[in-house]
Amino acid sequence: MSERHEQAGLALRVQRGTHTISAQHRQLDDFYLHVAAALDGGQTETARAVFLRFSDALEAHFALEDGLYFPALRGLRPGLAGDLERLCDEHQQLRETLVRVAHSIESGSETCARLLHQFAGVLAEHEGREEGLLASIQKPARERRRAGHITSAVVLEFQEAPCKSDS
Ligand SMILES: [Fe+2]
Ligand SMILES: [Fe+2]
Repeated sequence: MSERHEQAGLALRVQRGTHTISAQHRQLDDFYLHVAAALDGGQTETARAVFLRFSDALEAHFALEDGLYFPALRGLRPGLAGDLERLCDEHQQLRETLVRVAHSIESGSETCARLLHQFAGVLAEHEGREEGLLASIQKPARERRRAGHITSAVVLEFQEAPCKSDS
């Protein structure tokens, strides 16, 4: 495969991944709110069940970012390697914290709601930086397209303008 084809493939994978990643962030936020509401309402079994789904969804999300999306992004923008490595390291830290939250919810500890809330805060901050990274990548592409439209419009206008020497 030529380098141009390879870059086009990476760009397509990143573009598709961007929508998926953002949608999954919103889904994870919803899971957190659901678990927090169940704990707040004293619905321990519901909280445990939804927390398990939250954990599974989070692990699938990290696997997608670590295994597919970040490598494509690194191939497309080698300058982001440092930022992406930091995000991958944070996934590991988040996994470890999630285990502590899980034990807390499972044992019915009084501090489980506070631990969950703290975890959600760290996760939201992590997601925010990822969303910022996505936005910074999308912006130049939009600007390039807009510049392309302006150029086309100018060329079209120029071609359609009546020639003064004809009148
Ligand atoms: Fe992440
Ligand atoms: Fe993420």
